[in-house]
Amino acid sequence: MKSLVILISGRGSNMRAIVEAAAAERWPSRVAAVISSLPGAAGLAWARERGIAAEGIDHRAYASREQFDAALAECIDRHAPDAIALAGFMRILTPAFVAHYEGRLLNIHPSLLPAFPGLHTHRLALEHGIKIHGCTVHFVTLRLDHGPIVAQAAVPVLPGDNEDALAARVLEQEHRIYPRALRWLLEGRLVVEKGVVRVTGEDADESGSGMHVFTQSNLSASGPP
Ligand code: GAR
Repeated sequence: MKSLVILISGRGSNMRAIVEAAAAERWPSRVAAVISSLPGAAGLAWARERGIAAEGIDHRAYASREQFDAALAECIDRHAPDAIALAGFMRILTPAFVAHYEGRLLNIHPSLLPAFPGLHTHRLALEHGIKIHGCTVHFVTLRLDHGPIVAQAAVPVLPGDNEDALAARVLEQEHRIYPRALRWLLEGRLVVEKGVVRVTGEDADESGSGMHVFTQSNLSASGPP
């Protein structure tokens, strides 16, 4: 059975969506652990209540980024995960950490990358007056928020939106696409060619992700939804 470790820093709603999808869809994989960079993260308590190993590693207790990442990697590797999900994990990772997990490490980002890498994506979306916003699941590479894109979901920006309303609309889509992308990774169905991700397998185009989810495979097979 494959195993997954989820890294969080706070609320952990994406982590919950992943845990719930894995149970509801009976993935042949288990969520082995939830690890937070802040011991008080709300998501840890939720995971513990469900019998998932949950650990806080306080980044403030480490003198350098390298030391924190080494401690984090040691904790992760105890679970020998096949995949690691950054789910609202608000830390910049060191090159050694990223290299160690190359091909196994996914992140969810609240924008349609490559637009708006970094923080405050919803505020920036509103300030730029963009009409379509969304979220992206991507492989983590050395360049922050720039790895090969696995899945994206788009939402409209509506008149009268504020940051909170827009964030909530995007978050709903995050909860749909992140479990799906992780499942693809755990099933060994993601192929990266020249920086572009292809989803293999017969149901790749019928993923049931909904009309707002654009992956390379559903775009190439049937045109934009
Ligand atoms: C999510 O919106 C996620 O996309 C974002 O933080 C939020 C965490 O929420 N991640 C980033 O901004 C990473 N750069 P959650 O803790 O409820 O999943």
